[in-house]
Amino acid sequence: MIVLGIESSCDETAAAVVKDGREILSSVIASQADLHSHFGGVVPEIASREHIKAIVPVISEALTEAGLTLAEIDAIAVTYGPGLVGALLVGVAAAKALSFSTGKPLYAVHHIAGHVTANLLTYPELEPPFVCLVASGGHSHILLVEDPTHYKVLGRTRDDAAGEAFDKIARAIGLGYPGGPKVDKEARGGNPEAIVFPKSKLSGNELDFSFSGLKTAALNFVQKLSQTAKNKGVDTWDLFSRPDFCASYQHAIVEVLVEHTVEAARRCGVDKIAVAGGVAANSALRAEFARAASANALRFFVPPPVLCTDNALMIASLGGFMAMAGFPEADLTLDAKASLRLEDFSGIRTPAGNPV
Ligand code: KG4
Ligand code: ZN
Repeated sequence: MIVLGIESSCDETAAAVVKDGREILSSVIASQADLHSHFGGVVPEIASREHIKAIVPVISEALTEAGLTLAEIDAIAVTYGPGLVGALLVGVAAAKALSFSTGKPLYAVHHIAGHVTANLLTYPELEPPFVCLVASGGHSHILLVEDPTHYKVLGRTRDDAAGEAFDKIARAIGLGYPGGPKVDKEARGGNPEAIVFPKSKLSGNELDFSFSGLKTAALNFVQKLSQTAKNKGVDTWDLFSRPDFCASYQHAIVEVLVEHTVEAARRCGVDKIAVAGGVAANSALRAEFARAASANALRFFVPPPVLCTDNALMIASLGGFMAMAGFPEADLTLDAKASLRLEDFSGIRTPAGNPV
């Protein structure tokens, strides 16, 4: 089952070819991050226009790199949500046109569910069940992966996504966009215990998490610091080490993600944990997960950073698993869905009433 995957939900135009859900044949990613960095975040209209320019060359390059023609592809998979609607529409329209013109089946893939499969691509021997943290710019979930197309939501953020928590603070301290990698870099050499940020206490599902209290505490810290600096006529970061601030903030995010994922594995009785999504590229998160996994006799799976951030391999992979498991094809009325929830995605089965 050879699948061409197409991804355009945010600021990466990507296409990839995957065999049987696990074997990488090609992957092409055209990132617009530099264009958006001037604006401090993704500008939706610019993103859509860039996707329009890049989509056909990126798809052609993915086919060339795989050494295949369109006729040799068995199916097409595309991200149809969640994401920026104008950006998603470009990929969806391209995938529908390819499906219509070639007669190949089309599979509509949920972006966040797709992230999980980066682990199946990285580790051909990895078999479910495993617990997977998916932490991206807009979503943070802890999932029990029961098979490649069957996930159960165990926990999720109640407010900001982990990536959003990185991006907002990075902007506030002048590091710019995209914030996560910049905070990660700035934090190297910083003391993660320089500031002890408060931990949120949540009622209800103990595996859920919240980052808004942490973000507010960090913003208050920066505001007070800059006011004092102003009064003294000095620069804000002359008064406190920015690497220490970043390392402490990063530590607070990572600690809660690791603790909840390990606890989720304990509750489910599984001995494998994995991470996915852009935040899984974070160096402190990767190190802390590795440490916690070994302390708790768990096996830890982590894709290379390029497979954590947005790519089309994960879409081609999940599309392939859907095709092999006999999931229904999408038809040509397929539309982009900006706020698509995991529970509304027909490509995976989640038990009814599962909190998503
Ligand atoms: O999965 P992704 O590439 O796109 C979405 O689906 O949102 O995730 C993007 C998010 C952004 O918030 C970005 O700041 C964060 O992942 N990110 C990181 C790192 N690399 C990307 N966060 C922390 N450390 C990193 N090294
Ligand atoms: Zn993503």
